[in-house]
Amino acid sequence: MDLAKQELPPKGTIYIDESAGTDDKSAGKSESSAFKTAAFAVYSYPDALAYYLRRQSDSPFEPISASALKKAKKGADGVAKKIKAAEEARIKKEADEAKKIEEASKIVITQDMSLPAPKKIKIKDSIKNRETRVLIQGWVHRLRVQKGLVFLVLRDGSGFIQCVLTGNLASAYSTISLTLESTLTIYGVIHPLPEGKSAPGNHELVVDFYEIVGLAPSGDDSISNKVQENADPSILLDNRHLVLRGETMTGIFKVRAALLRSFRRVYEEFGITEVTPPCMVQTQVEGGSTLFSLNYYGENAYLTQSSQLYLETCLPALGDVFCVQESFRAERSHTRRHLSEYTHVEAELAFLTFEDLLEHIESLIVKTVEYVFEDPAIAEIMKTLNPGFVIPKLPFKRMTYEHALEWLNEHEIPNEDGEKFKFGDDIAEAAERRMTDEINEPILLTRFPVEIKSFYMQKCADDPRVTESVDVLMPNVGEITGGSMRIYELDELMEGFKREKIDPAPYYWFNDQRIYGTCPHGGYGLGTERILAWLCDRFTVRDCSLYPRFSGRCKP
Ligand code: 4AD
Repeated sequence: MDLAKQELPPKGTIYIDESAGTDDKSAGKSESSAFKTAAFAVYSYPDALAYYLRRQSDSPFEPISASALKKAKKGADGVAKKIKAAEEARIKKEADEAKKIEEASKIVITQDMSLPAPKKIKIKDSIKNRETRVLIQGWVHRLRVQKGLVFLVLRDGSGFIQCVLTGNLASAYSTISLTLESTLTIYGVIHPLPEGKSAPGNHELVVDFYEIVGLAPSGDDSISNKVQENADPSILLDNRHLVLRGETMTGIFKVRAALLRSFRRVYEEFGITEVTPPCMVQTQVEGGSTLFSLNYYGENAYLTQSSQLYLETCLPALGDVFCVQESFRAERSHTRRHLSEYTHVEAELAFLTFEDLLEHIESLIVKTVEYVFEDPAIAEIMKTLNPGFVIPKLPFKRMTYEHALEWLNEHEIPNEDGEKFKFGDDIAEAAERRMTDEINEPILLTRFPVEIKSFYMQKCADDPRVTESVDVLMPNVGEITGGSMRIYELDELMEGFKREKIDPAPYYWFNDQRIYGTCPHGGYGLGTERILAWLCDRFTVRDCSLYPRFSGRCKP
């Protein structure tokens, strides 16, 4: 575009602000949108009636001096030359590009049918299929296109493999215009890498043919443009379906699958039966303030806060039981460890003491984590996610609520009102985390006061002010598990309902457990996302949920 032909402002005056202006073709017409250099101003408006200039942003605009104008006219010639050279370079680049595309388009890639038929494999089976012709399908995870040589990393969910394309394969139009996240069917042979080179699995697939299954967008719509690492968290959450494809996320969700698998394995060894209680319920477990209500064919119902009450009803039928079920909490607070929906691993055990329950919980946690690390692929992922992680040792440190208050007061950590802790205070998240991080080992925090715990908790025989309750606290996260012994006498349970102002009538089926053959029993719930945040060293549980729900977010 010939800038000199631009229309002059009404008074024919062009402004130059050497400290705050910009040499942009749209500038120059007002004080607030001035050019930066007089040379660019003269180049852009050679016929201006006047040029007003200021050197500092706090000084007034003044007519340009004769000598400065002379210098600017010379400078304008330089600007014109530079712009011409840039334009020529752009045209040349476009022509080169067009030529490259034309040449690349002439290349037709075909499969050499004399090669052995390929064996279709998943990337995880690459090592045992080295030196044979294979077929792998997946997504382009990384891509480096050089002249005559293309390196791409393919991802198929089971692993990553580096693929190398040379010759016509590397120069074909479909290859040079390939994009991240496109899906491919790749044919070739996997060879170990020569000394000194590195790639996933220490090998690479030398490609002899490939086909595009789906070409992903380039330019503005390309995945790297849509999900940039330092983007606003809410944009990343809107694009969670794309973010999930990143290495950190895939790592976390592989560990998550291994964790749930390991829980089930330990429960199997412990002889505990899995059940699936309902999510739509008409009773509360953990207080009315976090209930999500729903209209159930005209009746009031809730999304379950915990499957505990249902698990208790299974004890006489199936013995010890567990479930892996979604729980829902209408948490208003935006903390890094609260979700509105989370995966709750809960168990209920019959005929046991509080000490038995504590030993069961700690050994479940340790055994489960040991099994997670038993899988070499998961151990490898853990090395990246949390290289310093050490499996905790048994037994865990025991600490009563009252000892915790003493510890907090000694360490001058105040309660929520900024005062010293006193019996009956809730140990809120911040104080709990400071204590856990300072002690820096798992803690079984026990014997919470009756008033701050749920209606169903058994009181301690030696001190009726406190309950047989436990929270498991982990460094960096705080509470990952909450459990207790349950009141197993009907009258005492009724007192609990009364204290918490809950109508016992809808709980008739739960109360019946205390009538038709009662027994001492207890259980607990583990927050999967919290355990993962601890295992994978994540700042927030949101990273550990596939599509996290919290107040203000229920999509995608
Ligand atoms: O301590 P909570 O509320 O205990 C119960 O629900 C019991 N009825 C469980 C039982 O005894 N069967 O929750 C248990 C665990 C917590 O320790 C925490 O790990 C997790 O569930 N949790 C949450 N995780 C994410 N977001 C939330 N809003 C959570 N609320 C609880």
